[in-house]
Amino acid sequence: MSGTPRHFLDLKDFDGATLRLILDTARLWRDARDGRPKGAVDDGAPLAGRALAMIFEKASTRTRISFDMAMRQLGGTSLVLESGAMQLGRGETVADTARVMSRYVDVIMIRANVHSMVEELAAHAGVPVINGLTDRSHPCQLMADMMTFEDHRGPIAGRRVAWVGDGNNVAVSLIEAAVRLDFALTMACPPALAPPDGVMQWAQSQGGSVTLTDDPAAAVAGVDAVFTDTWVSMGDARDNARLQALAPFQVDKALMNRAAADAIFMHCLPAHRGEEVTDDVIDGPGSVVWDEAENRLHAQKAVLAWCLGAIG
Ligand code: CP
Ligand code: NVA
Repeated sequence: MSGTPRHFLDLKDFDGATLRLILDTARLWRDARDGRPKGAVDDGAPLAGRALAMIFEKASTRTRISFDMAMRQLGGTSLVLESGAMQLGRGETVADTARVMSRYVDVIMIRANVHSMVEELAAHAGVPVINGLTDRSHPCQLMADMMTFEDHRGPIAGRRVAWVGDGNNVAVSLIEAAVRLDFALTMACPPALAPPDGVMQWAQSQGGSVTLTDDPAAAVAGVDAVFTDTWVSMGDARDNARLQALAPFQVDKALMNRAAADAIFMHCLPAHRGEEVTDDVIDGPGSVVWDEAENRLHAQKAVLAWCLGAIG
């Protein structure tokens, strides 16, 4: 690929129209498959001949499987690399790794401990780099989440949603999605676990409707969707101070009852039942978490297609 590769590092890097194109493509391609076997290739095999390499510094179930199957269904190929088994773990630089990998594959997806490592990889890669989760953000998750909200509740622009719990990486991408796709977001987080100040300030500077409170009941009043995530992200210490601070932020039936009557419950998974969410909520009628997990596959197909210039 010549010129600057089309990286997918954070939702804030995109305008709403590009995110909309990706979401619309994801839905179109999903609907066109119409119940075909999961191993079947999409009509036209849009990424035939293209190769994806995935690097994992942290565990994954959904991201690993959905990216792999996305490439196969698009007619391309993929390979999974554990970072500890690469020369990266023995001191080869991120920049040199980026230069070398760019000679073998067409696109790189990375799940990394530290966000700046992904930025460094992208700065030195000759091919697109996709952020598959860092300590800062999880943009691919939010593409699937936006798709899922709209499947169940229609266009998200102008709607009201709440985040309840840790102001973590998924929360940061939700804030960026709210700004770019124009919906109102209330974050209910313990003060010590609020999203980074810089992210809240960025949302303000963009004219976004993103507010922060430590009162979950107030945050969810009348909203169309309630989002949460684990209280202990990969890389966080599971200590008592954290668990005690988050205890009042459990999403239970009483909290969901304060949202709109048809509000949906969303969680990126994996869930820690009995901590951030109760069984009756995650298994209840308003939960869309399995659709949300499935949409990782569809949304990432469109992200891959955009990165590789097959759309847009
Ligand atoms: N939601 C998500 O990214 O799941 P994995 O950690 O299993 O990839
Ligand atoms: N916030 C979680 C998301 C896992 C998909 C973590 O970073 O572990």
